[in-house]
Amino acid sequence: MKFTRDTLKSHRSGLHAAQAGTTVLVGMGTCGIAAGAKAAFQTLEKAIADKKLKNVVLKKTGCLGLCFSEPTVEVKNANGSSTVYGNVDAALAERIAVEHLAGGKPLTENVYEQPAADIFNQSASPLKQTRIVLRNCAVINPEIIDEYIARDGYAALEKALFDMTPDDVVKEITDSGLRGRGGAGFPTGRKWQFTKNTPADQKYIVCNADEGDPGAYMDRSVLEGDPHSVLEAMAIAGYTVGASKGFIYIRAEYPLAIERLNTAIAQAKQCGLLGEKILGTEFSFDIELRLGAGAFVCGEETALLTSIEGNRGMPVPRPPFPAVKGLWGKPTVINNVETYAAIPIVLLKGSKWFSRIGTETSKGTKVFAVTGKIKNSGLIEVPMGTTLREIIYNICGGIASGRQFKAAQTGGPSGGCITPEFLDTPIDYESLQAIGSMMGSGGMIIMDEDDCMIDVTKFYLEFTVDESCGKCAPCRIGGRTCYNILDRISKGKGQLDDLQKLKDIGHAMRKASLCGLGQTAPNPFMSTMKYFEEEYRAHIVDKKCAAGKCKEMLTYSIDAEKCVGCTACARRCPVSCIAGEVKKLHVIDQSKCIKCGQCFTACKFDAVKKG
Ligand SMILES: Cc1cc2nc3c(=O)[nH]c(=O)nc-3n(C[C@H](O)[C@H](O)[C@H](O)COP(=O)(O)O)c2cc1C
Ligand code: SF4
Ligand code: SF4
Ligand code: SF4
Ligand code: FES
Repeated sequence: MKFTRDTLKSHRSGLHAAQAGTTVLVGMGTCGIAAGAKAAFQTLEKAIADKKLKNVVLKKTGCLGLCFSEPTVEVKNANGSSTVYGNVDAALAERIAVEHLAGGKPLTENVYEQPAADIFNQSASPLKQTRIVLRNCAVINPEIIDEYIARDGYAALEKALFDMTPDDVVKEITDSGLRGRGGAGFPTGRKWQFTKNTPADQKYIVCNADEGDPGAYMDRSVLEGDPHSVLEAMAIAGYTVGASKGFIYIRAEYPLAIERLNTAIAQAKQCGLLGEKILGTEFSFDIELRLGAGAFVCGEETALLTSIEGNRGMPVPRPPFPAVKGLWGKPTVINNVETYAAIPIVLLKGSKWFSRIGTETSKGTKVFAVTGKIKNSGLIEVPMGTTLREIIYNICGGIASGRQFKAAQTGGPSGGCITPEFLDTPIDYESLQAIGSMMGSGGMIIMDEDDCMIDVTKFYLEFTVDESCGKCAPCRIGGRTCYNILDRISKGKGQLDDLQKLKDIGHAMRKASLCGLGQTAPNPFMSTMKYFEEEYRAHIVDKKCAAGKCKEMLTYSIDAEKCVGCTACARRCPVSCIAGEVKKLHVIDQSKCIKCGQCFTACKFDAVKKG
């Protein structure tokens, strides 16, 4: 049925009235499914049917963001209380069905009160996480449009079309202070205004869902868990700037997000919320997907538009900016997934409400994918201005296995590191830039004392060198040269003047590269050289890697006091360079050792030394 304003409203009220009983939610994003959520779902489904549990509704939902405890299952009681179970395999799912759902007795094992409560109890005080972008993820079934509509879905589009002029929308978004979440932090309202004010016979709305940063999966989770929020926002953008066509550029490696987007687009069209004459008005807007082949550079907006046009995705110089001259030369709004997902709620709750969250210059919330050496890795959403200390120690449970925090990399291969002295710096666009890092799109990799900063920096630079499109020399040649320098430092062949060379080339790359990929590629080494100069010097002068990660600098030896001659190391060594007889001291031939570390792991007597 195609809705009008009135029928949509009455349909929504009907949906509100229909909700009752116990709901069992199984997190079924790619992440949950990979961890075994389908088995948990099927077991629960069968048990609920076998036991004829009438008052229990089982549903799949998007990612809960509790990566460390997937598969995750939430049992939500009619009174609003809930229990979150983690690591739910089929056996545990069966017990949940029998003991909790049928028997009324929640289990005591595998219950994750924290940080689940930070997510599900949004009325708690103090509130550690504020769910705006992720408001529906882990709450609705993303494959059913009614579940979105029931939570005020498409009410913002309705409000824009019937109660606001395009100028009103631009003003509301501008006043909210919302800035682009794709990395650069450009004010969204101003971007929309440029496109709105540029006359053209055709304009376009594009969603950047390329998400190429290693360690970033915020956008995938939003698209898998709440695809309609992005569609609704794109339609609002279309109405605002006068565009009738939208494209979502999404990497083909995200098959589930693609499937759910396609389902959502088809449902929205059936309901008259996309397509011709939306909600019975004169406004028509359609959305198509374009699949990318997974090149990081195709996330850069001009390369992305070139790729949608059917050409090889390579950046072109700006200005003109896409807002004025974009897809096929027409004015084009291009925003990130997370930026769009915030739009409906900004319109519904108002710019004043939104701008009260966050800091002076960075409003609202930010979603981070926190990974690495962290106890509770996962997706979190916090108000801008939250400190790294709060994120690591209060929300994510601290550093895994009690080691010392060494640094956090934000902004992925374009960003820099945050060191312990900045644990209390509020995370916002300006503060991160001031300490040589950047907000980026939300990847946050936590490192501890066992991580080598040269090794990590080399990893990021290798990534940007691989992903460079090769169009301009500073990036193509500069990146490769810097990688070679880092590589030789990590192999104990560096020289002290290498540090100055890195700085000089890094400055040139920042100034002369054509696009953001080359301009920001030096950030990881510029930042680690600033904060970990001693570590660079130890690699260059002492030929030592304290973290033991640069394997060419390692030496394995056998402690004569501890070796009992069990032969385990000799049997494991892939190049047979350990000699020794049974029950006699074993010795490593250093000239043949390839530093694979097999002997170190094989020895049960702590006799093999690494150093
Ligand atoms: C190399 C490179 C990769 C990028 N990748 C992405 C990406 O995957 N997703 C994204 O939204 N923005 C990405 N950006 C930023 C986009 O160019 C653009 O600024 C963004 O899509 C604008 O949307 P926003 O204003 O909502 O942030 C990338 C930029 C560069 C230089
Ligand atoms: S900076 Fe790098 S990725 Fe960007 S255009 Fe130049 S070569 Fe291509
Ligand atoms: S590090 Fe590897 S190659 Fe070297 S002695 Fe041990 S097992 Fe053999
Ligand atoms: S495994 Fe350990 S104890 Fe056994 S021979 Fe090798 S060094 Fe000696
Ligand atoms: S649980 Fe979904 S991203 Fe981790």
